[in-house]
Amino acid sequence: MIDSIDRLQAEARACQLCPLAETRTQVVVGEGRVPSDLMIIGEGPGAREDELGRPFVGRSGKLLDRLIEEELGRTRDQVYITNVVKCRPPNNRDPRPEEMQACAPWLERQIVLVKPLVILLLGRTAVSRVLGSSGVGAGRSLTSLRGHRYDRSGAVIIPTYHPAYVLRGGAARLTEMRVDFARARLTLSGGSVEV
Ligand code: URA
Repeated sequence: MIDSIDRLQAEARACQLCPLAETRTQVVVGEGRVPSDLMIIGEGPGAREDELGRPFVGRSGKLLDRLIEEELGRTRDQVYITNVVKCRPPNNRDPRPEEMQACAPWLERQIVLVKPLVILLLGRTAVSRVLGSSGVGAGRSLTSLRGHRYDRSGAVIIPTYHPAYVLRGGAARLTEMRVDFARARLTLSGGSVEV
């Protein structure tokens, strides 16, 4: 049983559970505060993350940092940030179901160790992985799931867009993403967020 984030970090860095181990430069396990009331889960590392071994440090990460500061009133070291898969899929392709399945025990254990009250899911991969597997999100689009909150093992789950999608999509998507982050802040402060 992995009982600390340091141990998880060390073991995950040596992971060989799927073929992404052959093409990665570094395992991007996650970073931030543990335990933390807020956890943010993306899809998987991109080129910059693979190079530096840290989640969300490229263009998407810059937008994420801004939203964490402007809508949550925090810095990234006050939350815990990770991805569904910890190794970069070649050419930034979507992670394959068997890769997400192989990586799932790491994410599950991270959730147990971080003990978040709120989990923000960025994009459809994170949403289908975390909500789909609990049955709520199975077969449903991100558009139909966002705007609501879901409960899973003691945490409130808030689905939102992936920052890369927002960077491609303009002002309206950014506004919606801001609303989702503000909803997370309200939940953390004990407010009601059902819309
Ligand atoms: N996109 C993700 O989903 N995760 C990262 O860490 C970086 C970009």
